[in-house]
Amino acid sequence: MEQIIEKKSNNRAEVLDKIVSLAKRRGFVFQSSEIYGGLNGCWDYGPLGVELLRNIKEEWWKAMTYREDVEGLDASILMHPRVWEASGHVENFTDPMIDCKQCKARFRLDTLAETLNEKKKSKAVEELKTEIINDNSLIDKFNAAVNSEDSFNSLLEDPDLSKKLLSLLNCPQCGNKNTFTAARQFNLMFKTFIGPVEDSGAVVYLRPETAQGIFVNFLNVQSSSRQKLPFGIAQIGKAFRNEINTKNFLFRTREFEQMEMQFFVKPSDDKKWYDYWKEERIQWFKNLGMTENKLRFHDHLKEKLAHYAKEAADIEYEFPFGWGEIEGIHNRTNFDLSRHEEYSGKSLKYFDEESKEKFIPYIIETSAGASRSFMAFLIDSYYEEEVKGEMRSVLKLHPKLAPIKAALLPLVNKDGMPEITRKIEADLRKSLKVFYDDKGAVGRRYRRQDEAGTPFCITVDTQTLSDQTVTIRERDSMEQVRVSSDKILDYLLKKLI
Ligand code: GAP
Repeated sequence: MEQIIEKKSNNRAEVLDKIVSLAKRRGFVFQSSEIYGGLNGCWDYGPLGVELLRNIKEEWWKAMTYREDVEGLDASILMHPRVWEASGHVENFTDPMIDCKQCKARFRLDTLAETLNEKKKSKAVEELKTEIINDNSLIDKFNAAVNSEDSFNSLLEDPDLSKKLLSLLNCPQCGNKNTFTAARQFNLMFKTFIGPVEDSGAVVYLRPETAQGIFVNFLNVQSSSRQKLPFGIAQIGKAFRNEINTKNFLFRTREFEQMEMQFFVKPSDDKKWYDYWKEERIQWFKNLGMTENKLRFHDHLKEKLAHYAKEAADIEYEFPFGWGEIEGIHNRTNFDLSRHEEYSGKSLKYFDEESKEKFIPYIIETSAGASRSFMAFLIDSYYEEEVKGEMRSVLKLHPKLAPIKAALLPLVNKDGMPEITRKIEADLRKSLKVFYDDKGAVGRRYRRQDEAGTPFCITVDTQTLSDQTVTIRERDSMEQVRVSSDKILDYLLKKLI
């Protein structure tokens, strides 16, 4: 086995830059409308990216809907506007926003702290204290905030303290002091109009989550599939949020894909299923090769829960910029179905034949970002290694996720090797996404495939001409085995299922 020295960079910003550049160079992700200067918060998936994204979604779909207690759904993106009133999105799906009056930059108040350095924050907090020291009511609020877990944000959350603190801060963009407006609530839903008349009666929203399509179809799915509690409905689809600040590549975008599953249970069974789905979901990421110590749960404190949630946890991944949520698991109680019942006037109660009771089920939600998972898988699989004094960058993607499953390489372009390779390629293409490459030295061709995450390289060489065997090189170990040409598909399928 060749000696491999891992050279993963410790410089966090550098790692992200390298991945963004690899993603563009190799056709994973492009900026949306790039030739027009790009559109902020929107990205396009190129030939390799679309395969990786589809494979992630396919693995999720299989894990969720190949079970007998989960059904699939594909609801429309545009929904009746009352849906978003019932869900609370019209009223509450807002972020507090501030503008810099000088340079016009816009910031989310609750993430402003991340853009300021610790020294500047401490200085501003000290100045604030001096300013309000003689105001008893403010100093009490100040003390409570600074003693809380997230002290700077707690100060910003209080309207009186927030105004004063903002006046002591410098804009992270232009550096000017005391240029922030007061905070305003900004609704994150994109609005459009249905039909030819653009008036308020025709307003509809691009869905900010796929979940509501599942809630409103709960009884349709239950009765048509004759499911009994507990059972779930799974859906993959686009969601849209007019985020104030998009950042960190695919992490926070304005258009993205979600993979959501709502599991309907008897209220008394909620804890059991909440714990069950938490474990199932983190295990899914691990089974697909994500580094175990880069995954963790972040359990939400009771006092920080959304109004509808009884329990909530995030599955977080350690990105180069820190830990970030890739999936949320929530016990949403009967909130959603009760609200839709109230707003639609239609009963959404479930009749339990055993107990002869009619009730609104509780919902355990698993809500993953397909695009965010894509980014986590890409980052997690990226390695730089020194092999025999030469550097290689490699995406050690799980074979199930890899965009191309095998590359077909004739050792040289003569002696009938290209023809034999083409024949093997044609056979494999019937079942797998493969790639033929005869350009350049075979070592260079291996490196190109390493960078694309291709788990197997199949080489037709001189020995093939006499005994019909080929070499199959495994991407991560770089070990090679000889396999008979008629056994290649079996060999690959064993590794891919
Ligand atoms: N139905 C519940 C729900 O939508 P969420 O925590 O707002 O919950 C769930 O979103 C997941 O969707 C997140 O864990 C994340 O992976 C993904 N997500 C949310 N906002 C996103 C954004 N602006 N860009 C990319 N992914 C996003």
